Amino acid sequence: MKRIGILSIGEMGYHWARLLGSQGIEVLTYAGGRSEVTQRRATNAGVRLVPSMRVLLEESDLVVSVVVPLAAKRVASQVARSLARVGRRDLLYLDANAISPMTAREIERALAPAGAIFVDGCIIGSAARIGHGTLICLSGPQAERLEELRAFGFSTRVLGTEIGQASAFKVVYAGLTKGLQGLFVELLIGARKFGLLHEIIRQYEESFPGLLAKIGPSIVGLKTHAGRRAEEMAELGQTYRHNGLRSVMAPATRKLLRAIAALDAGMASETGEREGSVLETVELFFHKGLLRENGPGGSIRS
Ligand SMILES: NC(=O)c1ccc[n+]([C@@H]2O[C@H](COP(=O)([O-])OP(=O)(O)OC[C@H]3O[C@@H](n4cnc5c(N)ncnc54)[C@H](OP(=O)(O)O)[C@@H]3O)[C@@H](O)[C@H]2O)c1
Repeated sequence: MKRIGILSIGEMGYHWARLLGSQGIEVLTYAGGRSEVTQRRATNAGVRLVPSMRVLLEESDLVVSVVVPLAAKRVASQVARSLARVGRRDLLYLDANAISPMTAREIERALAPAGAIFVDGCIIGSAARIGHGTLICLSGPQAERLEELRAFGFSTRVLGTEIGQASAFKVVYAGLTKGLQGLFVELLIGARKFGLLHEIIRQYEESFPGLLAKIGPSIVGLKTHAGRRAEEMAELGQTYRHNGLRSVMAPATRKLLRAIAALDAGMASETGEREGSVLETVELFFHKGLLRENGPGGSIRS
């Protein structure tokens, strides 16, 4: 692999691009219709912005989709349409979004006639730790081909030969991380209300050493990523329903994350970095009325 296309340069795309760039891989993106902040992030990461999807598909050896879960299918369909016109049959396409296995299989069905070689994927760990322990899980008949990413500093693990396995792994894993974020936020807002914030944090640390410190950066990330994480909980709920199971925690977590997203509490960063502390984040959510009866998180009651 010499050139890798990334759709799009959000927080995750930024860190992929930085690592690949540092290893001499040229990273391309097509940012037509994307926000200014995404375009600036791409420039900050040293990514080449190409003028069309067609050019991206002609020039890339691999295209990686790291968008928001709701956009994963749309992006894959756009790629399928352009790829059919380009006419090559050797393009590798990795979907690394937190999507349900059903969505992963739909994406495979959309891409196959256009000739793309589809690999189902997911990312376990934070964007900032790409190259430092964040794991890229892969599945599908051709998943092993992407083990080549190890040569550039990525950690990878092939989970199996079926499309959908990596996606199922991700949604189940995400249920834990997002569930813990939601639970902590709800309880810390209560503790703030009762004037016990520092005391409860101290007690959590004594009882569960390191737990809040571990989840802390993702609580800070909720200021800008709550909407996308709510989508991940929707994917988890759908996956359970599709398989004849009922999820109780995923819909509750989704509701809380949606209420946080509705606070409009943070600006997306142009460098893909996160700023702030857990205490500042809880204070911000508290002042914006999260979880308050008749507060802006009204959607929480529905
Ligand atoms: N961030 C993490 O630490 C992390 C960890 C594990 C997994 N992931 C996974 O990585 C993926 C990306 O997450 P992220 O944190 O990078 O999200 P993000 O910072 O919100 O970035 C999402 C990017 O996708 C773009 N986008 C949105 N809709 C699009 C569309 N229809 N077509 C093309 N691009 C579109 C956005 O552009 P605009 O600015 O124009 O909206 C933005 O550049 C998600 O599936 C997530 O589950 C992220």
